[in-house]
Amino acid sequence: MTEELDHGQTPANPETGAEQAPVTQGSRIDAYVDRYAARATGMVASEIRALFAVASRPEVVSLAGGMPYVTALPLDMVGELVSDLVTRRGPVALQYGSGQGDPHLREQICEVMRLEGIHAGANDVVVTVGSQQALDLMTRIFIDPGDVVLAEGPSYVGALGTFSAYQAKVVHVAMDDQGIVPESLAQTIYALETAGAPIKFLYTIPTFQNPAGVTLNVARRQQVLDICQRAGILIIEDNPYGLLGFDGEPMRALRADNPDGVVYLGSFSKTLAPGFRVGWALAPHAIRDKLVLAMESAVLSHSSFTQLAVGQYLTTQPWREQIKAFKELYRERRDALLDALEALMPPEVTWTRPAGGFFVWATLPEGLDSKAILPRAVSERVAFVPGTGFYADGSGNRHMRLSYCFPEPDRIREGVRRLAGVIEQEMQLRDTFGTGSARDHSGVDTPGPDLA
Ligand SMILES: Cc1ncc(COP(=O)(O)O)c(C=O)c1O
Repeated sequence: MTEELDHGQTPANPETGAEQAPVTQGSRIDAYVDRYAARATGMVASEIRALFAVASRPEVVSLAGGMPYVTALPLDMVGELVSDLVTRRGPVALQYGSGQGDPHLREQICEVMRLEGIHAGANDVVVTVGSQQALDLMTRIFIDPGDVVLAEGPSYVGALGTFSAYQAKVVHVAMDDQGIVPESLAQTIYALETAGAPIKFLYTIPTFQNPAGVTLNVARRQQVLDICQRAGILIIEDNPYGLLGFDGEPMRALRADNPDGVVYLGSFSKTLAPGFRVGWALAPHAIRDKLVLAMESAVLSHSSFTQLAVGQYLTTQPWREQIKAFKELYRERRDALLDALEALMPPEVTWTRPAGGFFVWATLPEGLDSKAILPRAVSERVAFVPGTGFYADGSGNRHMRLSYCFPEPDRIREGVRRLAGVIEQEMQLRDTFGTGSARDHSGVDTPGPDLA
């Protein structure tokens, strides 16, 4: 049997003779285990993934997933649009496209960005496979192993996974309920520069942040721009949720006030649907050129089909109205979550109050570890994402991310009721037996795309 494992074969179940699923990670079954590039050692599936497979069962209320509620789209219309696209423009839609992306779609993207005060030309836009690919390409062209990336603490799990894959060193900058703390940013930059550590960029999600749900206030926006400009640090502004604010007009993007110092990443994943996988980067000319080359080397070109479908949607459909409908839906769910937390959680638990986007960030009482209580929560049929996934250094064990984007309001209330019960039980255990030691944790804990 050991022989077989060493040669990477799938072992048969001794009882049934059937093939068993290969155990891949850390097992001798991988014949190439010592051949991977050093960067692949950081690519490990999260130990909580298996738990989330259970959490996706219908009886579990998942406050974990960051999936947009695409059912709210007029799906018949999308179907017609796609069918019409093939019939009328098949030879173009089914052909390779340009590495930079469809020119007409890039014009339309500029129109979308104008809602956040950005005036840019289509020539500076690169269409990417979701903003996730833009993040990957930016990291690929800027990061050598060991280079420093600054990011809010906590930060988006998908970005941390990308930075880890390219062997960047992520240094977190403090954040509060008004976004990144400028003083902490300045101090961190100073300390790193003094230590001779090369900072390649600041990665920030200033509006309706994932996972914390907070938004960088107006005064701080200018301060962050000034601090980075003085230090010559490029900013990556990741803004997939900017148009999903519940009150008033969209915030002005950082990029609107510094076209040369900010690379802006946008996406249609939350304002239309992630299945199209259409996002983009808006970058100063020199960076744009590198992005196009990196894009071509990665995938030759984005799918012409989905780019034209999104372009067609923007041309023929009332997309601003659709965003409004999404906002109303998500506002109702945000309210359901906040009201339920207020009514049901023990007073020692605190949380953020997002003015848009998908997420609430909750903080547990002293002595509770969100990752340790997840199995019990799942057995009580409620799921969340533990805070450790959102820090590169494995801290965050007293926090959890609660998403309100996908479950219906009644389910959200039921989920909070179950979660509050679990937390109360954990507090009783803590009071009886003292605090358990939080499990050691290091590295990026990527829970998987549906939880991003
Ligand atoms: C902050 C942030 N950035 C980027 C992404 C990636 O989005 P996509 O690749 O679908 O555009 C997500 C997805 O959840 C996100 O939350």
